Amino acid sequence: MKKYFSFLLMTSLLSAFAQQKNEAIFPGKIWKDQSGIPINAHGGGILYFHKTYYWFGEIKKGKTNRAPDISSWEDYRVNAGGVSCYSSKDLVNWKYEGVALAPNKTDSTSDLHTSRVIERPKVIYNAGTHRFVMWMHIDKYDYSYARAGVAVSDKPAGPYHYLKSVSPNGQMSRDMTLFKDDDGKAYLIYSSEDNKTMQVCLLSADYSSPTAAYNRILIGDNREAPAMFKCQHTYYLITSLCTGWDPNKALYASADSVMGAWTMHDNPCTGPDADSTYHAQSAFVIPVAGKNNDFIFMADKWNKTDLEHSGYIWLPLKVIGGKPVIRWKNSWTPE
Ligand code: GAL
Repeated sequence: MKKYFSFLLMTSLLSAFAQQKNEAIFPGKIWKDQSGIPINAHGGGILYFHKTYYWFGEIKKGKTNRAPDISSWEDYRVNAGGVSCYSSKDLVNWKYEGVALAPNKTDSTSDLHTSRVIERPKVIYNAGTHRFVMWMHIDKYDYSYARAGVAVSDKPAGPYHYLKSVSPNGQMSRDMTLFKDDDGKAYLIYSSEDNKTMQVCLLSADYSSPTAAYNRILIGDNREAPAMFKCQHTYYLITSLCTGWDPNKALYASADSVMGAWTMHDNPCTGPDADSTYHAQSAFVIPVAGKNNDFIFMADKWNKTDLEHSGYIWLPLKVIGGKPVIRWKNSWTPE
């Protein structure tokens, strides 16, 4: 009898601690965290710190609504849920670290109020201040605010303390990303001028403000969803066309310096569905630690009428002869 009870105790303890174990990345399929709950981190980005990857993304939860007073484009939206954080050693299995930046549920004038837009959060580490700096797209429900928000934390997973939102040098800032160069300089890259032209702005030494140094790039090309990376001595920028939540063909540009001049090239995606970025939109490119030429292309497979159930397309990206090449895989594992 005693043996039977200790067996029962053991099995219930084991199942309580049983963790979801993912064997591979399955692009476009439901991706569960270690507790078996689907990962909720859209429009995300990755910070690599102390041999751990941290995935930050938009928390999209609850019913998707379409803004009733906007007919010129499909303003499908969910209440702003803040920013989530997950951590991983292998990029396949992710532990939920909690809400890194919480939304504000009471003050409708706050940038972080649930009625607003908090999108595309990205985090970098500042070696001078020892702080983690998060930038994100902050907007009103109709996207008329077009600003970049910044938050800081002493710990990679947060919680992050929101500082402010800015219009860098008086310019609009919507879809954005961050890029930290090898020399420690960091840049904000954002769709500006009503999404017609991108801009690159050098951040202050503490990464929490824009400087006066900025450049207009991809002028008049209507690009958004920027994802920047560097391979050897070349900088690459993958972007999408502006078609809201609907997928389109990605393009990449390259440059010898972050501030440009940038040259537009063609689609880095290859094979079936390459013309719709595999029905997804670029979010970030992860440099795989310790590999010079191996990257991961992170994209969002938006489900515009049910945004919470949008998926993730992560695929290997290799730079071959100076050209980034993304190939579809049903499942794969980063080496
Ligand atoms: C997309 C953009 C998304 C989101 C959406 C809203 O073009 O890349 O991040 O802002 O529009 O419709």
